[in-house]
Amino acid sequence: MTRATTNQPFGRRTHYCGTLRVEHDGQEVVLAGWVARTRDHGGLLFVDLRDRSGRVQLVFSADQTAAGVYDLAKQLKSEYVITVRGRVRRRDPAMVNPNLPTGEIEVWPEALHIYNPSKTPPFSLEDDVDLDESVRLRYRYLDLRRPSMQEAIMLRHRVTKAVRDFYDSRGYIEIETPFLTRSTPEGARDYLVPSRLYPGSFYALPQSPQLFKQLLMVSGFDKYFQIVRCFRDEDLRADRQPEFTQIDVERSFVDVDDIIQDTEDMLVHVYRQVLGVELPQPFPRLTYREAMERYGTDKPDLRYGLELVTVTDLFTQTEFKVFRSVADAGGRIAGLRVPGGGKFSRKEIDDLTQEATSRGARGLAWLIVPEGAGAGAGAGAAGGGPDPASMRSSFARFLTPAEITALLERMEAEPGDLLLFVADQPPVVAAALGYLRTVLAERLGLIDESRDAFVWITEFPMFEWDEEAGRWAAVHHPFTSPMDEDLHLLDTDPGAVRAKAYDIVLNGVELGSGSIRIHRRDVQERIFAMLSIDREEAQRRFGFLLEAFEYGTPPHGGIAPGLDRLVMMMARRASIRDVIAFPKTNRAQDLMTGAPAEVDSRQLAELHIAVAAPKPGAR
Ligand code: AMO
Ligand code: AMP
Repeated sequence: MTRATTNQPFGRRTHYCGTLRVEHDGQEVVLAGWVARTRDHGGLLFVDLRDRSGRVQLVFSADQTAAGVYDLAKQLKSEYVITVRGRVRRRDPAMVNPNLPTGEIEVWPEALHIYNPSKTPPFSLEDDVDLDESVRLRYRYLDLRRPSMQEAIMLRHRVTKAVRDFYDSRGYIEIETPFLTRSTPEGARDYLVPSRLYPGSFYALPQSPQLFKQLLMVSGFDKYFQIVRCFRDEDLRADRQPEFTQIDVERSFVDVDDIIQDTEDMLVHVYRQVLGVELPQPFPRLTYREAMERYGTDKPDLRYGLELVTVTDLFTQTEFKVFRSVADAGGRIAGLRVPGGGKFSRKEIDDLTQEATSRGARGLAWLIVPEGAGAGAGAGAAGGGPDPASMRSSFARFLTPAEITALLERMEAEPGDLLLFVADQPPVVAAALGYLRTVLAERLGLIDESRDAFVWITEFPMFEWDEEAGRWAAVHHPFTSPMDEDLHLLDTDPGAVRAKAYDIVLNGVELGSGSIRIHRRDVQERIFAMLSIDREEAQRRFGFLLEAFEYGTPPHGGIAPGLDRLVMMMARRASIRDVIAFPKTNRAQDLMTGAPAEVDSRQLAELHIAVAAPKPGAR
């Protein structure tokens, strides 16, 4: 027994509340924690004591507990922080709570000390309550007391530990890179930090350690990783925060398959260590092109089917103008087969049309497959296929029976299915049907929430045309290497050049992106030129990298999975805010500390900064 102090009136804590079991029956224990709730049964007072491990029931009895202790216990309220010394007792069989890990025992305190009372919390800390997130964020320290939040944050700890162990075991070295640095080109706005010593000059917080990790390869570290904070001033969503954490990785003398293999092994290790889940390997791979064709997105959710089917070739000669004009213009006509969708009401189908047009489609052609028709039905009663006039459809009346038969065959349609078609330029078809696919999967309950469907997307395009700026932009970033096979297209057909770039996607969420990098100055300069970054600008922004390329740069590549997103997916949460201890709102505010905030005029003066913007709230 340790000496009693005001911090430890009964000596050191002996157990965490949630760890007590029947085998502790009869033992004397010292516990400490927060009062989760109290129930006074007249002469018998039950107090749930909670710490980070869980909760245990304390029992104070008018008959059996010393009067001083019992009276003190009667003062307890939710969130008082206390310590007790007492004895573990097995509960009466009738009193066992099978829903609680400690439900077979209770603790009968002989001594009680109240460290600190608590005001009534602004919201209930019991888990299953629907809370206004702004109140949670304002009182984040209380929100974090809730068991589900404690679990998420502790899960995050186990994930980072497993990640570090994995990379360490593979010979990767964790190296820190600076936060006060120059702008890195990941495509978002920078957070800037004014320099006091160099008035008018600014550091930029890194959007990622991209250039530093490449330079570490030049330095010969060979395999680098870092669990690192990144900063991006961009529009926020449920899976985006202004500061977030990457598992940043880079490796020398490698090509695409090596990075994919290491990353897959890392994910398998983390799922095994943290969740006890065995992920099957290899993860499926889709090229960007396949993903767009079959799922309409480069982040496909593979927990369900509902694939897009191309039918353009069936309509090159059709009389149906909507389809014919698109086929003639080199567009794409594609469809989705919705099993059982024939039951949808007209209103539900109209809603789908709305959803499709909200994503840019000019219309949605639909058809309900009648009884007796479908892929296996062969020719219909009329000899040439089902009778278009009798079908429930927005466009069948414009088609011939033979066209309908061919369409049903291609779609592998069954009676009772709803078929949906969009005809347009390929990106519009992909956007509209890709979106409908996710809407329908949700509506029809096709998503198996217990699955973890990983997929690699490879062979991303190198460039995309930036309509506004009137020039090519890098799809990943300007340091990404083109595919060897496509180098000859750089000048003639930049839009067709594929990059050695890859994404790891989980259940429709982009977990991480990476690429094999350019390691030669001449190639890098050529790509800068393609991106309309002129020599002078390239020299100013990335001169140090170009220079480094001239001192023996090995081929190298890497990736950066987002840690917050990974933990969010593993914890089955809908927002990364739920796996970050102190996140910001969608408006990039910290509601607890009140950041961002105005600063003293003295501070501004030191930095030689004058604020031109109206005061917040004055707008
Ligand atoms: P990229 O910009 O694709 O690549 O980012 C990699 C991963 O980081 C996560 N991420 C975010 N997470 C939360 N909030 C954000 N605002 C946010 N932005 C990005 C995502 C994303 O997949 N340097 C390259 C990687 C490389 O090439 O090695 C990079 O940063 O999970
Ligand atoms: P209309 O001839 O304009 O009445 O069109 C017949 C059907 O085709 C309607 O259901 C329209 O919604 C649909 N439609 C029109 N344009 C498109 C398009 N680009 N893709 C798919 N369906 C379309």
